[in-house]
Amino acid sequence: MFKKAVITSGPTIEPIDPVRYISNRSSGKTGYYIATEALKRNLDEVVFITGPTRLLPIGCRCIEIETALEMRSRVMEHVTDADIIIMAAAVSDYRAKRMLTQKIKKDAEEMQLELIKNPDILLEVGKQKRKNQLLVGFAAETSHIFVNAKRKMTEKNLDLLVLNHISESNPAFDVDTNLVYFMTPLNIEELPVLRKNEIAVKLWDKIVETWTAKTGKES
Ligand code: C5P
Repeated sequence: MFKKAVITSGPTIEPIDPVRYISNRSSGKTGYYIATEALKRNLDEVVFITGPTRLLPIGCRCIEIETALEMRSRVMEHVTDADIIIMAAAVSDYRAKRMLTQKIKKDAEEMQLELIKNPDILLEVGKQKRKNQLLVGFAAETSHIFVNAKRKMTEKNLDLLVLNHISESNPAFDVDTNLVYFMTPLNIEELPVLRKNEIAVKLWDKIVETWTAKTGKES
């Protein structure tokens, strides 16, 4: 029986100066619907850690963060005793090496921005995953989608991966529908184009099935 879920959602934003930042395209809809559906699954606690979006599911313990470093520390605080961890956030891969305290003036014709890599939170969580924890990651791929997704699943020690096939006909970001595959180490399941709230229901059904297979316990 699983009791606690941690869900990450939305983008992170990485400041450059007091008025500018770099970020990822993410509306936070997928994470929001996953959290909303989690509330219907009889869990004791749903922790929702989100970058800036307007979508906060009522009934969850919502933790709002801005940067990847903030997300990492809040995730690490909450995952230790979590049964299900779903990392749907679009974390910025890089942040500005220096956050300037004054707004950059637009005098120069050219300028360079130095970036530094952010920690891969999912990778860290995967490394410390316990036997009775279920870890779900997301991937957005445009080419060699299955090879890349399979590699990610192994590298990050995932039980389940939601693969978004990004293409002209399936932009995935900022729209209400999506085309995804559910991958486990054993198989790949293709879903039809569905609304994101429908994908959340199917994902929770898949989580229950994977949890039961993994732990031998009914959810
Ligand atoms: O490797 P990639 O960034 O494509 O993996 C995507 C998955 O990793 C998503 O589940 C996302 O939430 C998570 N992620 C993370 N920390 C990062 C980058 C991605 O947790 N720095």
